[in-house]
Amino acid sequence: MTELTHSTGSGAAPGNWLARWLSACADLEDLFSHHHLLDATIEEIDGRRIRVGERWLIDFASCNYLGLDLDREVIEAIPGYLDRWGTHPSWSRMLGNPALYPEIEGRLTELLGAPDSLLLPTLTHIHASVIPVLASDGTIFVDSRAHKTVWDGCVAARAHGATVVRYAHDDPEALARLLRRHPKPPRLVCMDGINSMTGNPPRLPELLALARAFVRHLGETYDQLVLTGGFSKAYSSLLAFVACPPELKRLLKITAPPYLYSGPSPVASLASALVGLQVNEARGDDLRAVLWARTRRVLDHLEKLGAFTLNRSGFPIVEVPLADADDLAKAGRFLVDQGIYVTLAFYPGVPREEVGFRVQVTAANTDDEVTELLVALDRLADVVPLRRG
Ligand SMILES: Cc1ncc(COP(=O)(O)O)c(C=O)c1O
Repeated sequence: MTELTHSTGSGAAPGNWLARWLSACADLEDLFSHHHLLDATIEEIDGRRIRVGERWLIDFASCNYLGLDLDREVIEAIPGYLDRWGTHPSWSRMLGNPALYPEIEGRLTELLGAPDSLLLPTLTHIHASVIPVLASDGTIFVDSRAHKTVWDGCVAARAHGATVVRYAHDDPEALARLLRRHPKPPRLVCMDGINSMTGNPPRLPELLALARAFVRHLGETYDQLVLTGGFSKAYSSLLAFVACPPELKRLLKITAPPYLYSGPSPVASLASALVGLQVNEARGDDLRAVLWARTRRVLDHLEKLGAFTLNRSGFPIVEVPLADADDLAKAGRFLVDQGIYVTLAFYPGVPREEVGFRVQVTAANTDDEVTELLVALDRLADVVPLRRG
């Protein structure tokens, strides 16, 4: 435990360590203290409209992309599972697994076409525990823009003896050079599936071909891809997975602390994941078609406005950088005044030239709500210049 008044080193005044932390995160601290779009208390929701204080806003910050958090079929199924299992059977998975776990793993493995899968509560748990196991005392090559939780997993791996090397974002040539320079096995390449700020997928075929060529060169099996994913967004559940070969799953069951020692996901989350998988099978493509079309409207509108976005994939994460990073608080306040709730993209979460806001579209946003967003973007562009290229 940290003593709050502890001073470090050369005569620093008590409490200085706290002031140093706050000044290192000054941009964010300032936004937290003064902005409606951060650390807000949401009093009430009505579909994708949310009430903060007295103000109703349209929510373009939710990550429930398929709208399953509001789906009647999912909501109405949950009480039956609570009756059968209680709210939270607090065994670690090592001790005992409610039958929901193997049922979800079976369905998920089939959906992914993966050899096997293992569920743990969150991606944060998975990155912190699985990356050190896979990397051992070898080398990790990590995409410079990988999610913070991946970086934290790499730091944990380094403490266990791994070497961590960073390669330029989504750049196979840079990765190839580093793979030649760092031969120590095992070698692990870490990248995001869909980058959480750009909304874009990696150049996976090229990166995988590269990794497999190096693995083949060393005479090892080259079919070595481990996918991790979370249910916390599209499936609206506190649950995440590692899709991997069965032998790796066996290893993780005896080495990954969240399997051995953490509490499980709540029953409501296991139920929403399971029913969500059923809904996905029955209606997932329809939900994705709606989502795709609504996101397209936002992207087309930005293009018409001459505004730049990092999104070139069409996925529903649309980051809109401002011409001047110092306008961030003003832009956020303006959008709130227009009744629009978005995610602020602040430095150092994104590079300074990408400071702006992120619009997340979900299938539960209506077409009218998207229209209101587009009107608000037009008005915003008149008062806060958006980045053009
Ligand atoms: C790309 C990415 N990885 C990891 C996480 C963390 O996921 P979890 O909440 O399951 O720990 C997030 C959440 O925002 C994310 O967007």
